[in-house]
Amino acid sequence: MLQRMFAGALDHMLEAGALLLAAASLGLVLLTLLLLHRGWAWGLLLIACCEYVVQPIHDLLMGNSKEQRILHHMLEHAKAGDPQSVLEVIDTYCSQKEWAMNVGDKKGQIMDAVVREYQPSVLLELGAYCGYSAVRMGRLLAPGARLLTIELNPDYAAITQRVLDFAGLQDRVTVLVGASQDIIPQLKKKYDVDTLDMVFLDHWKECYLPDTILLEEHGLLRKGTVLLADNVICPGTPDFLAHVRGSSRFECTHYPAFLEYTKVVDGLEKAIYMGLGSPAQP
Ligand SMILES: C[S@@+](CC[C@H](N)C(=O)[O-])C[C@H]1O[C@@H](n2cnc3c(N)ncnc32)[C@H](O)[C@@H]1O
Repeated sequence: MLQRMFAGALDHMLEAGALLLAAASLGLVLLTLLLLHRGWAWGLLLIACCEYVVQPIHDLLMGNSKEQRILHHMLEHAKAGDPQSVLEVIDTYCSQKEWAMNVGDKKGQIMDAVVREYQPSVLLELGAYCGYSAVRMGRLLAPGARLLTIELNPDYAAITQRVLDFAGLQDRVTVLVGASQDIIPQLKKKYDVDTLDMVFLDHWKECYLPDTILLEEHGLLRKGTVLLADNVICPGTPDFLAHVRGSSRFECTHYPAFLEYTKVVDGLEKAIYMGLGSPAQP
């Protein structure tokens, strides 16, 4: 009898604890969204707090990950075969419910303009996450053009594949699972790439510079290849920026913008490869 009462009380305590945690995490998420919408940079600290502390608790309580929730919401609310509706549903969810590291609509419009201007036939993306930017670029490709997107995390890669299948872009976009530094050297032989027309860099920021050097070393850049790099201000890629801006091999343009779904200052950098310059240059 006493044992049953004790077990019952414990159950109630656990339920109350879970509710409290859920309420606290929701409060923190809302506070973060509010701060970021006001452009307060220290809202970024709260993003980190949400991502690394609150998110795992939230995931535990919900029994799934944020990325799975984004996927399920998209499958439920977007129109199959309609990439634009896929983008809109993901943007609405991530601006109103849970922040996520998609490039987002504001910077996405800058990307759209670059893709439309250069009309790449062979496009490489570094960092797919849930496939948002792959859908964004894939929907603008001309018939016969292709996008290869490299994603390190197999769970994210699987979500990207489902998002692309749902959007009807599976024939134009290929998801490659693994680390960019391992896959880039295989692009020519294994994936039949001669040179790349465009590269979208959006993986971990410390990889931008070494991967740019790797792309050049493996002969994947040609005169006119467009590198488009996200998050060059926030979180920032100072070594990559110094390299491309300081080299005669690149012609650079900066596009000021805001971090996805916030008013925190960020930007995209376009660096057009001009071919091998003077040996004196870095
Ligand atoms: C900012 S997210 C990409 C967002 C995506 N481009 C979009 O806008 O929808 C960065 C992704 O890069 C992946 N990543 C990080 N380092 C990587 C690497 N070296 N190779 C491949 N993927 C990597 C991460 O797992 C993460 O999913």
